[in-house]
Amino acid sequence: MSLKGKNIVIGISGSIAAYKIATLIRLLRKAEAEVQVIMTNEAVQFISPLTLSTLSNKPVLVDYYKENTGEWNNHVHIAESADLLLIAPATANTLAKCALGLCDNLLLAVYLSAKGPVAFAPAMDLDMWKHPAVQRNIQLLTQYGHDIIPPGNGELASGLIGEGRLAEPADMLAYINHFFQQSKPLFGKKALVSAGPTYEAIDPVRFIGNHSSGKMGYAIAAQLQKLGAEVTLVSGPSSQPIPASVKRIDVVSANDMFNAMQSNFSDSAIIVMSAAVADYTPQEVATQKIKKKEEQFSIALTKTKDILSHLGTLKTEKQTLVGFALETNNEIAHAKDKLQRKNLDFIVLNSMNDQGAGFAHNTNKITVIKRSGEEFPFELKSKDEVAQDICALIVEHQQSEGLL
Ligand code: CTP
Repeated sequence: MSLKGKNIVIGISGSIAAYKIATLIRLLRKAEAEVQVIMTNEAVQFISPLTLSTLSNKPVLVDYYKENTGEWNNHVHIAESADLLLIAPATANTLAKCALGLCDNLLLAVYLSAKGPVAFAPAMDLDMWKHPAVQRNIQLLTQYGHDIIPPGNGELASGLIGEGRLAEPADMLAYINHFFQQSKPLFGKKALVSAGPTYEAIDPVRFIGNHSSGKMGYAIAAQLQKLGAEVTLVSGPSSQPIPASVKRIDVVSANDMFNAMQSNFSDSAIIVMSAAVADYTPQEVATQKIKKKEEQFSIALTKTKDILSHLGTLKTEKQTLVGFALETNNEIAHAKDKLQRKNLDFIVLNSMNDQGAGFAHNTNKITVIKRSGEEFPFELKSKDEVAQDICALIVEHQQSEGLL
């Protein structure tokens, strides 16, 4: 399985089993993962950082800062960048410190800063592993929501035979593959999301626009990325921050958006059109600023291309196409009509009649309607939660269609 685009941070603590991590790094690099190694000072006694930095193709981090240059390793940034933090081998000492929240080395600071998934692969002698203190720490770490890759049974460094051996590199790789398949159901899929308003130029200083903030589309892009998809966000002018690991293509007009969506459409499995595209654009754009003269002034407008309808004509069985509808009356009937007309799998209906829904708010109230006519009404929620609801339906749909 390809792990392209995944950043795996491996924290190595001081155990003879550290040598197995060299093989694991090779396997991960073969699967195209990025690997960042952090070692404790004790781990350095067991395997050379040079070996691991050569295999991972990145400097190995041991200390908070480099003595000669004063350059420091930002533990928050390292933790944030990790799609998975794997602590392997995890000694009884490191497990205990993590369970208690101690922080006397870089690896522990990264662990405490990690908001994403963490797994431990313990390694120790059999009696240590059986000790109630170690087992209690394992229990605590499990309660914190972390995974434990169980140690194997066999010959130990002490010469004893029993449980405590670090899992084999192939088993750790199998865990990692499984992890990305499970928690990231959209892993390996491309998603294309549009967001924000479009600005239609009248002259060099004026435009026709709308109040869309882009919040909903940005939240959907972030959620699809969290679910493992590789996301491209085509955004009209918006001040929203770019969600982590999302590729943003900036556009201004409806026509720019049409081109960007069309050229990224064919290799996207999931396409969500949440932008508030202008329906009309000035027939001609004045090259100079228009001067005020007459009492009355009008601009000739021409219809923009309907991007979503166009994508609907290109859509294949393998693609899930989602559109939005903002309605003021006869909402469900209008939304259903749009769903059919534009050949969508889902339409997300916002009713202007619902308080707290729509453009500038941080909340939204939606009803998702499926092509089958099934309706999923949701309560008023934050836009992040609404994005989770929409994306959960997308995943369910892809699963039921046999696309995942
Ligand atoms: N949309 C689009 N291209 C346009 C206009 C709209 O892709 N030129 C998309 C929007 O992003 C949204 C959906 O179409 O996902 C619904 O847009 P809306 O303006 O509500 O519907 P229209 O089909 O334009 O119909 P009407 O304006 O008459 O309600």
